[in-house]
Amino acid sequence: MCGEATGPDHPQVRIRCRLDGPLIVEGPVEVLDHQGRPFPLPTHKPLLALCRCGASGNRPFCDGSHKRIGFAAGETAPE
Ligand code: FES
Repeated sequence: MCGEATGPDHPQVRIRCRLDGPLIVEGPVEVLDHQGRPFPLPTHKPLLALCRCGASGNRPFCDGSHKRIGFAAGETAPE
């Protein structure tokens, strides 16, 4: 990433909280298990969704189960 701007205005990785849903991660990341082993990530998608409701059958990734359980989360950042 030599020469690319970084910092709060130009992050290399962006995480978005979806209303009542997962955390959307955009950018070059690895997802490691508790033993430090990487999860295989889809190479055809520019982003991934991490479960934050706890109901996914494919944790740590979202499988849409948040809708079934009525997960509600609407945090907002301070203005
Ligand atoms: S956030 Fe989607 S299954 Fe948990």
